[in-house]
Amino acid sequence: MPMQKSEESRQSVNGASRVVPTRVVHPERSVKNGAARQPALPFADVTQVHLSVMDNLAFMAGLQSESMDLILTSPPYNLGKSYERRRPLSSYLADQAAVIAECVRLLSPTGSICWQVGNHVTSDGEVVPLDIALYDLFKRHGLQLRNRIIWHFEHGLHCSKRYSGRYETILWFTKGPSYQFNLDPVRVPSKYPGKRHYKGPKRGLLSGNPLGKNPGDVWIFPNVKSNHVEKTIHPCQFPVELVERLVLSLTSPGGSVFDPYCGVGSALVGARMHDRAAYGCDVVPDYVEVAWERLRALANGALRTRPMDRPVYDPALPNGGQR
Ligand SMILES: C[S@@+](CC[C@H](N)C(=O)[O-])C[C@H]1O[C@@H](n2cnc3c(N)ncnc32)[C@H](O)[C@@H]1O
Repeated sequence: MPMQKSEESRQSVNGASRVVPTRVVHPERSVKNGAARQPALPFADVTQVHLSVMDNLAFMAGLQSESMDLILTSPPYNLGKSYERRRPLSSYLADQAAVIAECVRLLSPTGSICWQVGNHVTSDGEVVPLDIALYDLFKRHGLQLRNRIIWHFEHGLHCSKRYSGRYETILWFTKGPSYQFNLDPVRVPSKYPGKRHYKGPKRGLLSGNPLGKNPGDVWIFPNVKSNHVEKTIHPCQFPVELVERLVLSLTSPGGSVFDPYCGVGSALVGARMHDRAAYGCDVVPDYVEVAWERLRALANGALRTRPMDRPVYDPALPNGGQR
């Protein structure tokens, strides 16, 4: 992933001293154009957006307990990227524990937390899968794991001493046994849509759901690299289609979605696209500025995102399999 220079300052949050980047020095600032402009969404105005340049513990302190239906985020991986400083894993995990505890406080009783992570890599090249390291931090609050989703993508660093990493994971936890899960808005085309039962009492009837099938727990969405329509100044932003799948399946219109490490606001964009209230914070002012630009563009019908139903480019097919 491209590395960018940053300036830093030390802030004290809830008694803990944190080094936070204050400004990223970047070569360009743009919300890229592409082919998938969202229609103007009258409900997507920014009145339902609560977005600040702030440390997440400070931001969360101002939010009401049990007020969030979905907390969806991707924290830093302690890799020394432009927006973080590498430190001992134990210190990183202690910080994560504090943020997770606050997220649990904010989560509604039927709500979901989705923590999207990859690997931390130590200075001598050992790989530490962060979902394994973080799992107990959720379990100590009694959360229940519903899926460990594999997000597979094609682009990234080419490794010479191990296989190149081409997936990350999303730990989806619920606060309790009763939770929202709406499958119909996120079904994908069935492999054999017209297939029928060939014997038994259902003989002749369609064997699959005519609305499509469950997407399963291995998701293939292109990651946001330089030629992706959603690329901004951020080195590792969520594809909005990944956010949309979680927002649509785990919340209802009018619900609330929060990203405590919101970067350029992809989770907030996905939330507002589907009429959910959006909450987020990030410590880098430039990222938050871009997030506002994207949210305003969404409200004005000027934001371009990759649609959820677009097939992944396949060079073996005519036109890459694109419609
Ligand atoms: C992996 S990125 C998230 C990108 C985001 N998903 C997006 O689509 O843009 C992690 C983000 O966490 C932010 N961050 C790091 N420490 C933070 C803190 N204590 N409070 C809030 N944000 C923080 C970084 O600036 C960075 O943008």
